[in-house]
Amino acid sequence: MNNIVRIAIDGPAGAGKSTIAKIVAKDLGIDYIDTGAMYRAIALKLIRTGTDYNDGAALAAMLDATEVDFSDGHVLLDGEPAEGFIRTPEVSEMASASSAVLAIREKLVALQRAMGQRKSIVMDGRDIGTNVLKDAECKIYLDASPRVRAQRRALELQQKGMQVSIDQIEEEIRARDYRDMHREHNPLAKADDAVFVDSSDMTIEQVVETLKAIIREKANE
Ligand code: DC
Repeated sequence: MNNIVRIAIDGPAGAGKSTIAKIVAKDLGIDYIDTGAMYRAIALKLIRTGTDYNDGAALAAMLDATEVDFSDGHVLLDGEPAEGFIRTPEVSEMASASSAVLAIREKLVALQRAMGQRKSIVMDGRDIGTNVLKDAECKIYLDASPRVRAQRRALELQQKGMQVSIDQIEEEIRARDYRDMHREHNPLAKADDAVFVDSSDMTIEQVVETLKAIIREKANE
């Protein structure tokens, strides 16, 4: 690609955004920014420091003393790789709750906008097309039915040797969708100019090819 193309991929948890975004970025030879990992890194810091995100002064001090960055596609918290610590249920829960807090969103959105300046990039999250990169050249909203997303998650957990209830996972997914879509600041939503892709009945390869076709078309516009 010769032109700068910023690709914003939004959608609910479990739609396959990060798996797909990573492959697409690698195939196109451009950087990938996982904004969910940034909210997870802040959640990890909240847990580690015992900071109450409802205490405005304590939160501001913590945020001032915190650095979130990427190196080679891996998130860094205060200069240290954080990926190995941010996918636990405890961090997921804290990230889901604390990502609704305005001061946290303001800090991370400013960083994300700076990362998306003047270069081609794939960025995934919940509010990339509607807020962070409103003027992105290519916007995609990647969705899948709650049942399919629950089945994918169950398979992942079963492969780790865990016993799971698909019905319970589906219920949790629906609750998280509701929370993400109904929060006050930058809720999950499809941008008017985003292309909607439903991955429920598609393989990873099919989703990657679909997205690359959409990107090629947008890059040539
Ligand atoms: O995509 P994920 O599950 O890693 O995201 C972790 C949490 O961060 C999730 O509860 C939604 C939130 N999030 C957000 O509010 N805005 C983003 N751009 C990305 C993630």
